[in-house]
Amino acid sequence: MFIKRLNSIPGKYVAIHSRCKSVFSLLRNESAKNDVDANIRYPYQVVQPGHLSPIKAVPEFIAKPDYRKTTLLFTNRASCITINSEEMIRKMKETCLLAKHVLQTASSVLEPGVTTDYIDEIVHAEIIKCGAYPSTLHYKGYPKSCCTSVNNVACHGIPDDTILQDGDIINIDITVFYLGCHGDTSDTFQIGNVDETGLALISSTRECLNRAIDICKPGAKFSDIPEVIEPFALEKGLSVCKKFVGHGIGQHFHTPPNVWHVKTHRVDKRRMEPGMIFTIEPILMEGDTRVKILSDGWTTVSRDNLRSAQAEHTVLITQSGHDILTL
Ligand code: MF3
Ligand code: CO
Ligand code: CO
Repeated sequence: MFIKRLNSIPGKYVAIHSRCKSVFSLLRNESAKNDVDANIRYPYQVVQPGHLSPIKAVPEFIAKPDYRKTTLLFTNRASCITINSEEMIRKMKETCLLAKHVLQTASSVLEPGVTTDYIDEIVHAEIIKCGAYPSTLHYKGYPKSCCTSVNNVACHGIPDDTILQDGDIINIDITVFYLGCHGDTSDTFQIGNVDETGLALISSTRECLNRAIDICKPGAKFSDIPEVIEPFALEKGLSVCKKFVGHGIGQHFHTPPNVWHVKTHRVDKRRMEPGMIFTIEPILMEGDTRVKILSDGWTTVSRDNLRSAQAEHTVLITQSGHDILTL
């Protein structure tokens, strides 16, 4: 164990597990910070990006997705939604169960004093142990094997030397590439004792995702999803982040359709059909929906420094309804 002073909470010291003593080499750009009003007291740490540990290697024998073809993906954006074959569905089921397993593994090490980089270490090791590739690593330049979004970080938090503290909430987002396809799932967890509002935020987010999944079946429209999500969030006194969408998933990480969580004219009006596989991943926010992407190009924080929670599943449309592949 060693002790580190925290910038965000003046005078407060926390103990760090000795196993978190990674070497943090890459210093982040100072302008990568969000604005924090020193006069406001938050009942949790307002997270600033920290320092990154060196980029991890993936053994030769692990099959890797070819992200050099991502430009092709963009030109395909408007194209049709894949109807997966029986064989592909079998593979996706295995891949998604692996993603679920890795998320469970990651959540089991959560406690005050652990760094988000340590979570990434566990995630990276477990994925490789299972013969899979951590989909986020090198995806459009992303440097880590999962996303860890704490408190005011809405999504795409990069694991670093941030130390989890009692009272924090953290979303861990896991995507694995296995058997030639991607499986994607995330959930938000509490660290130690979280205040009532934080706990309600987490449970409302999970319930919101489940209610959205419940309406998924052949014939349902993707535009029905925001009709469920937005009123539910509002009823709980929460708002829904407008900036991020769920997505089709399979041989590619992000494919059509865009699965909107809020009502917009850009919502996909197509209907769900058996064999479609996509994610739903709403981010519910305590405050308003304005977010800012920091200069690392990924870390997305709430403008008001209030918290958000996210939950995500990969869902298959079946003949009679749906199957949650990451459950
Ligand atoms: N897993 C995220 C999603 O749900 C995407 C993360 S991409 C990354 O779509 F590059 F930020 F890791
Ligand atoms: Co996703
Ligand atoms: Co995800």
